[in-house]
Amino acid sequence: MDGTLTENDLSHVIAADKANVWHHLVQHKPFETTDPRIIVEGKGMRVWDQNGKEYLDAVSGGVWTVNVGYGRESICNAVKDQLMKLCYFAQTAGSIPGALFAEKLIEKMPGMSRVYYTNSGSEANEKVFKMVRQIAHKKYDGKKTKILYRDRDYHGSTLATMSAGGQDERNAQYGPFAPDFVKVPHCMEYRKHELGLEHLSGADFGRAAADQIEEVILREGPETVGALCLEPITAGGGVIEAPEGYWPRVREICDKYDVLLHIDEVVCGVGRTGKWFGYQHFGIEPDFVTMAKGVASGYAAIACVVTTERVFDIFKEDASDPLAYFRDISTFGGCTAGPAAALANMQIIEDENLLENTTAMGAHMNARFHELQKKHAVIGDVRGKGLFQGIELVKDRDSKEPVAEADAQKVVADCGAQGVIIGVTNRSIPGRNNTLCFSPALIATKADIDTICDAVDVALTKVFG
Ligand SMILES: Cc1ncc(COP(=O)(O)O)c(C=O)c1O
Repeated sequence: MDGTLTENDLSHVIAADKANVWHHLVQHKPFETTDPRIIVEGKGMRVWDQNGKEYLDAVSGGVWTVNVGYGRESICNAVKDQLMKLCYFAQTAGSIPGALFAEKLIEKMPGMSRVYYTNSGSEANEKVFKMVRQIAHKKYDGKKTKILYRDRDYHGSTLATMSAGGQDERNAQYGPFAPDFVKVPHCMEYRKHELGLEHLSGADFGRAAADQIEEVILREGPETVGALCLEPITAGGGVIEAPEGYWPRVREICDKYDVLLHIDEVVCGVGRTGKWFGYQHFGIEPDFVTMAKGVASGYAAIACVVTTERVFDIFKEDASDPLAYFRDISTFGGCTAGPAAALANMQIIEDENLLENTTAMGAHMNARFHELQKKHAVIGDVRGKGLFQGIELVKDRDSKEPVAEADAQKVVADCGAQGVIIGVTNRSIPGRNNTLCFSPALIATKADIDTICDAVDVALTKVFG
């Protein structure tokens, strides 16, 4: 940074923010006596606040979004050029970047063929729910309307996506929710005792956890279940990876009962785990994939529903029926800045070999966290893939009793004071908001990862001794 920030007086900005802005996920009472953090500038892995303080951003914009890092000229230029040429036209028509990004995206997703543009992860997930409901009406006499979702997963902030929300604390006070959303158990090996599966491990546990989904389908009646919606790795619910054996069995169960498999890649999509998509680690083909955050790294708002030709065809059948096609629109799904930014974003990932970097740096981060686990008894579990890692903090390794949310937040605050922004699961699962979250940009170097891990080491010592 060139120092201009400290010379500029941002006191008016801070006053305007305090007077008029309602921040997301934040209790505002403390701002009566303190100032909110205002992020002013970003470059690469780093951001600066209103006081000129520099931070290493280990969470890609707070919520795992800025995958290629800040200040990317090629994306900014692509967006500017596109906006000058054509800023917007409704997606009832096509656009040049819309067609070209869809083509490039589908190249990365064998078995998939159609891209539906929208503008947030929640909205993309809702589009799938609508497609599933319409398929139920078109093909199954209105019966296969139920959508299964998993304990601890999150699919968005709207009422329909909260109806598919497996985070009871996040949902508290926002009901009643939409009907025909049904919860299935989580698949977290570290807490397998909660599932009554403590006698199993590895792939045996994975298959048994998936079998619990089948039990729900049988209980509900397979003729009523239209889709199963899952995160490839649960993000805000605690960075939870399913063990080996889980996903092939999930696909088998979906095939057996004619249930569409919807993978929510809003966090894992576009490189976060070291492959283009999280599900590509599991050797399965989904029926729907939704994505948002990393698609354009936050340079423009874009989200996509991607599906197969088999699903798409259902909406082309019987063209004489005026209600038979997908009668849905998203106004800002027609903003051309999104696909223009997404094309340039994908180009950067390819040109700079960021998938390979993510795999290598993720392995380094995971190894460093396991070293920290030897030193700090409070680290109960280390989980994650690529540059998407979590550390679960517990009071006692035998009982696995979680630390208090307030104590986990003290670790985040101390890292912040050291100049490293990390995340923590918050107000999600009652009594289980104890997982530190890490999702640095895919450009992270070994030195960046070491800085993050060193800060966590210092913070854990300060908070837990
Ligand atoms: C897995 C997952 N799905 C969906 C969403 C919702 O995305 P958005 O905030 O863009 O609506 C999120 C947001 O954090 C998410 O983590």
